Amino acid sequence: MDFFVIDGGRPLRGAVRVSGSKNAALPILISTLLTDDECAIHNVPELRDIRTTVRLLELMGKRVSYARGTAVVAAKARLKTRAPYDLVKQMRASVLVAGPLLARFHRAQVALPGGCTIGVRPIDIHLEAFKRLGAKVSTEHGDVVLSCDRLSPGAVRFRFPSVGATENLMMAAAGIRGTTVLRNAAREPEIEDLGIFLTRMGARVTGAGTSTVTVEGTSRLHGAEHWVIPDRVEAGTFLLAAAATRGDVRLVGAKPAHLEALLEAVRRSGAVVTELPEGLRVRAPKRPRPVDVRTEPHPGFPTDLQAPWMAYMALADGKSKVREAVFENRFLHAAELGRMGARIRTGGERAVIEGVPELLGAPIMASDIRAGAALVVAALAAKGQTVIQRVYHIDRGYERLEKKLRALGAQIRRAH
Ligand code: EPZ
Repeated sequence: MDFFVIDGGRPLRGAVRVSGSKNAALPILISTLLTDDECAIHNVPELRDIRTTVRLLELMGKRVSYARGTAVVAAKARLKTRAPYDLVKQMRASVLVAGPLLARFHRAQVALPGGCTIGVRPIDIHLEAFKRLGAKVSTEHGDVVLSCDRLSPGAVRFRFPSVGATENLMMAAAGIRGTTVLRNAAREPEIEDLGIFLTRMGARVTGAGTSTVTVEGTSRLHGAEHWVIPDRVEAGTFLLAAAATRGDVRLVGAKPAHLEALLEAVRRSGAVVTELPEGLRVRAPKRPRPVDVRTEPHPGFPTDLQAPWMAYMALADGKSKVREAVFENRFLHAAELGRMGARIRTGGERAVIEGVPELLGAPIMASDIRAGAALVVAALAAKGQTVIQRVYHIDRGYERLEKKLRALGAQIRRAH
């Protein structure tokens, strides 16, 4: 198994190009199940989760060519309507096949994803919403089976703005004739990008990116071409790595409008963030001031940046607090950061971080994508050598991470 060896304590300097967004690319690739026509998706990052999605599409009967950031998806065989457990357990986003399949074939069978390290993560919000549109839901041998005579457009109000449920329902609604209105929808930029793609396929999606999404669907969606938005979580991770190492980094392609809550917190910590025509620049000449954050659905502070933020605050000049209000178990990085000398107490959804003047390299282990990213941020800032095990978690979400960091002057290598 691969691991990273990082010799820390060097400020990151230079420019890095932000990759395409993983969490936008996943639903967009999956929505190609809504048509037999060819779709071309560009700016798709080279990542483990993307390869899992390509495998899933192939298994379901699509032909996919994926090279140099472009995925071309076309029909090959009659589509299957079942997403099997071995893929769903690798990547929970597989559950998004339900929407397109239900719209097109009136049936979808998806292995129940089960929990994962960051929380229980049920799919009840997805299922309730499908029921509102007329689907029946049952479970068979660990699979959830959705079926209907015909899915009907209608009005859905989510009890919580779930990203996945919003995407699943948008895809289903795009593939059926009539108008569906989704209320209390998630407002993440990735939802907006999916709305643009579905509109390019022939649906009419308005309000994506706001809490009310209206989808005028059609049973005749066609092929489309699309460029995926830049990855705001990758951009935010690099930004925090630059700030934690007291560096000076330009993030080429970063969209400030996608990162407002983070930028506000980073500025309050004393780092200088400037908007450039090509993206963002962050400079952090001094030790950060402590700043409290609470994660929330977009446009609040993103849960996906909570762990890297904590690594940054571990070095702050004072005490700060983090409240994780989206996932119930997303503090696994705290104990690993503790091995590097961070002083973090966690309880329930709260963490208190007593900043220390420096972190020290140590052998540590990634537990999920973003916890892994936090350990990389800490290791880059720490004195001495850190070895991070279970890098495969990080590979799910960060394209060529070590190459990009090396180009900014980091000493990081992958070994196995
Ligand atoms: C998406 O997950 C992202 N994944 C996650 O990114 C991200 O952390 C999350 O949104 C929140 O921003 C993708 O886009 C592929 P949710 P998703 O449904 O859709 C609860 C990363 O690191 N919930 O908004 O699964 C759930 O348990 C990943 O890139 C229900 O209770 O997130 C969680 O506590 C990790 N019932 C909260 O809502 C449901 O039916 C938010 O989940 C659905 C969700």
